[in-house]
Amino acid sequence: MAISFSKEKNTFNLSTKNTTYVFGIYPNGALVHLYYGGKLVGEQDADDFIRYLLRSCSSVSDRFSECDLPMEYPTFSSDVRTPALHIRYSDGTSATRLLYKSHEIYKGKKALSGLPSFYVEEGDGAETLEVTLLDEAQPLKVVLSYTVYESLDIITRSVRVINEGEDKIEVLKAMSLSIDFQSKDFDLVHLKGSWANERHIERVPVMTGGQYVDSKRGSSSHFHAPFVILADKNTDENVGEAFCFGLVYSGNFKGQTEQNSEKILRVQLGINDFDFKWTLYPNEEFQTPEAVSVWSGEGFNKMSQTLHTVIRKRLCRGKYRDSSRPVLLNNWEATYFDFDEEKIVNIARSAKELGVELMVLDDGWFGKRNDDLRSLGDWYPNLEKLPNGITGLAERVSELGMKFGLWFEPEMISPDSDLYRAHPDWAIQIKGRTAGLSRHQLVLDLSRPEVCDYVVESVGKVLSSAKISYVKWDLNRNMSEVGSLSADAERQSETYHRYMLGLYSVLERLTKDFPDVLFEGCSGGGGRFDLGMLPYFAQIWTSDDSDAIERTYIQYGTSLVFPASTMGAHVSAVPNHQVGRVTPLSTRGNIAMLGRLGYELDLGGLSESEKEEVKSQIKLYKEIESTVHNGTMYRLKSPFETNHFATEIISEDGKRVIVVYATVLGRPNSFFDRLYLKGLDEDATYILDGRSYSGSFLMRAGLLMSNDGDFSSKMMILEREN
Ligand code: GLA
Repeated sequence: MAISFSKEKNTFNLSTKNTTYVFGIYPNGALVHLYYGGKLVGEQDADDFIRYLLRSCSSVSDRFSECDLPMEYPTFSSDVRTPALHIRYSDGTSATRLLYKSHEIYKGKKALSGLPSFYVEEGDGAETLEVTLLDEAQPLKVVLSYTVYESLDIITRSVRVINEGEDKIEVLKAMSLSIDFQSKDFDLVHLKGSWANERHIERVPVMTGGQYVDSKRGSSSHFHAPFVILADKNTDENVGEAFCFGLVYSGNFKGQTEQNSEKILRVQLGINDFDFKWTLYPNEEFQTPEAVSVWSGEGFNKMSQTLHTVIRKRLCRGKYRDSSRPVLLNNWEATYFDFDEEKIVNIARSAKELGVELMVLDDGWFGKRNDDLRSLGDWYPNLEKLPNGITGLAERVSELGMKFGLWFEPEMISPDSDLYRAHPDWAIQIKGRTAGLSRHQLVLDLSRPEVCDYVVESVGKVLSSAKISYVKWDLNRNMSEVGSLSADAERQSETYHRYMLGLYSVLERLTKDFPDVLFEGCSGGGGRFDLGMLPYFAQIWTSDDSDAIERTYIQYGTSLVFPASTMGAHVSAVPNHQVGRVTPLSTRGNIAMLGRLGYELDLGGLSESEKEEVKSQIKLYKEIESTVHNGTMYRLKSPFETNHFATEIISEDGKRVIVVYATVLGRPNSFFDRLYLKGLDEDATYILDGRSYSGSFLMRAGLLMSNDGDFSSKMMILEREN
């Protein structure tokens, strides 16, 4: 049983393969958090966790001791730390004390209303616990839902806030997750970045007081990813305790820690409470996004492996979850806006000769779009560039024996567009205030159902008009001056979240209407690479920085959470367009093959020997694709900490091992290096380049690597013999 309730001890015990999560009902009815971490056997007694905490309490209230207790879902009352839930009642007050009312445990899991979430399949051994809490004074009901995926080793959770009274209330903050740890000496690890520089790893000690990562930009953003990782001081890739908390959401978020002087560390994750207010009328409810928790006792590699599996198998969905995907060529860096039908067909033809399977036409095919100044929203072909329209171009690409794909930026509107001229009120804006442009564009107000309908219909019309197998769904600016012309004053602060609900509904409809289309997400590169997008987008363009060495950092950081199957990674031209670096074609290929391989240049311009090399890359990738997608990844060397990058992926059946080893810069007198592989069977024999090695040798003595200078790399494929 994954979930049990002890009547005698008044505790809930949630257990996965390797973890235990315990909370209890305190004598006053409040829920007290007791433990989360590696597996504990048997039933737990609350006293063993909180006995001495009560003594040290410096309560502001003599009735309860909540101020120093670890709370399960803290509110603002006699607990004067950061609350998970903050409500303003119609009488203007905001203190809340939630007390246990009832609970229910059932098999499986219910989908979240209006929001993406992890799902359950037969055999997962998943169980759900719903605990109902009532405020002691106001007619407020809160339901905490936890789903325990026993075999997949994760716990997901979300919260519903229900107004059971006769007056309206305002939800000012409703976190998806809150956990109070005791006496831990953690580091906070998170993924920070900027455009072309996404998801770099930062590790800092948790301090007394508060720290947070967040987004106020209307999307999860390039700057922080919606995750909080807590790790022991000694944790590295292979040893030590690490917790990862992730939010299944793509909008404004906040992940925060607050540690008090008694060393109770509160970690929270949810929708950002900045500029957030949600009004609930009688009987209305607010559903928070879902959060996922993962624990590892074997370092970050194990934490990532658990996440990779569950993201691949229980968040990603649709046709491309399990099936092979085409190797694509995207024309963006090959032509930017400067193309016509002949140019695209020629690029496609030379790509096809080398084995590319899908030709993607990027920005510039619609309206009057010859630069980034106009036409977003006008999703009909530019007949000057494409005289036969998208239908004709797709037909010609299909005659070459290739699939065809198209770029859209459906959430946007250019002030210079037919759409804006017809519906100036459809842009996110505040009446009487200048709406700031970014990349010369505004954001469509997806909090309005009629705008969502337009997006579904206009994109759907193009997809139905031609043989289109792939969509690149881009988002090239964040929100500012946020308001909706269709909302009254009370609802303005709901715009950010209503936008996300609108966007998810649009993506639900389109991915349902076009189940055979492969959707790839993008946001100025990887500006919206998050768990909320992955049910719709099988893969996401990881970064606009396509330089292989920059990608070692970006892909290393991204892999902390996301599996290789979700990372779009392309071979591009040299000198690289973002950083000017010249790297060998082999390194560009080796790094891109650790994600979803694609090309971002005109292959027709390569030399004959380079063309042969590209041909071999594609052939090899098709052979190793399922290992890259479904295998177990180990990060062996970090470019953040060493002069190298090395990643190993072991196939599901353990028979094949792929290792990519790259050097950032050559160093004098450093002729060799040893690379210690992980996760092999020590008694098995593995063959590499005709030589046999035991698993024990590869893991303990290590593979001898020659250092071949700046930006060099190798891909090694070991096959298990016995
Ligand atoms: C964004 C994307 C690029 C490209 C351009 C087109 O920056 O990340 O890959 O599609 O938009 O304008």
